[in-house]
Amino acid sequence: MSRSGGIPYHWKALLHRKALWGAHEQATRAFLERWNPTEKELLLIGPSGGYSIPPGWLGRFDRIFAYEPDLLARKIFERRHGLRPVWLERYFPFGKPGAFEHPAGAAVLFSNLLGQIEIRNVKKLGTWLEQELQGRTWASFHDALSGHGIDFDTEDAGRERALLPAMKRWIHVRNPGMRQIEVLSHDAPDLFASFKNLQYSYWQWTLTPEHTFLTEGVFPKRASVAEDESC
Ligand SMILES: C[S@@+](CC[C@H](N)C(=O)[O-])C[C@H]1O[C@@H](n2cnc3c(N)ncnc32)[C@H](O)[C@@H]1O
Repeated sequence: MSRSGGIPYHWKALLHRKALWGAHEQATRAFLERWNPTEKELLLIGPSGGYSIPPGWLGRFDRIFAYEPDLLARKIFERRHGLRPVWLERYFPFGKPGAFEHPAGAAVLFSNLLGQIEIRNVKKLGTWLEQELQGRTWASFHDALSGHGIDFDTEDAGRERALLPAMKRWIHVRNPGMRQIEVLSHDAPDLFASFKNLQYSYWQWTLTPEHTFLTEGVFPKRASVAEDESC
């Protein structure tokens, strides 16, 4: 079950995408270019209207398969990217054995979804993801923290996993007079806690003038990089 999406999300995109989402789009492009999958097929999970995915980036794939329950989002996606994915069942079946088997061998991208679904048992879902994604090329970008009236300064973020205390140090309160701020910590980063050899990126997504997100991007390091670093 998603905590977001639908008409309110499309409305926010209409109001704020041009003015505020540019930096997020650029950071997402840089992240996807670092990921750089060589597969010719992509399985896209939860793209909504494809607002975060930079135009043109999907052109590298011969075929795109996607799970997206929102029918309006599918239409917006097709118009924005000028291509028609093979739309699979509406909801991706989280927790089901073999859920990534079709299409076999396609690169898998969780597109800003994992921070927005209700996760009942983080450890169980993380274990399932680790088993099912074994041997696959995959990436996810997702919400890590979010709040109102704050910014995230990720300048000193490296390529390693940032734990909550490090993420908290990136928070800047816009109005220093505020005595209390509320920051939501999303479960998505913990899904990957037991994975080995992952490469991370962090950036801010300014959804509305007031509401900001710390986005975490993650994918497995290439074998050569992982081996070098373990020496
Ligand atoms: C906030 S949107 C993601 C943002 C989007 N990737 C973008 O670039 O703007 C979350 C999307 O996930 C979709 N969703 C929710 N549960 C899903 C599931 N189980 N499988 C696939 N999509 C799902 C929702 O319909 C919604 O469009």
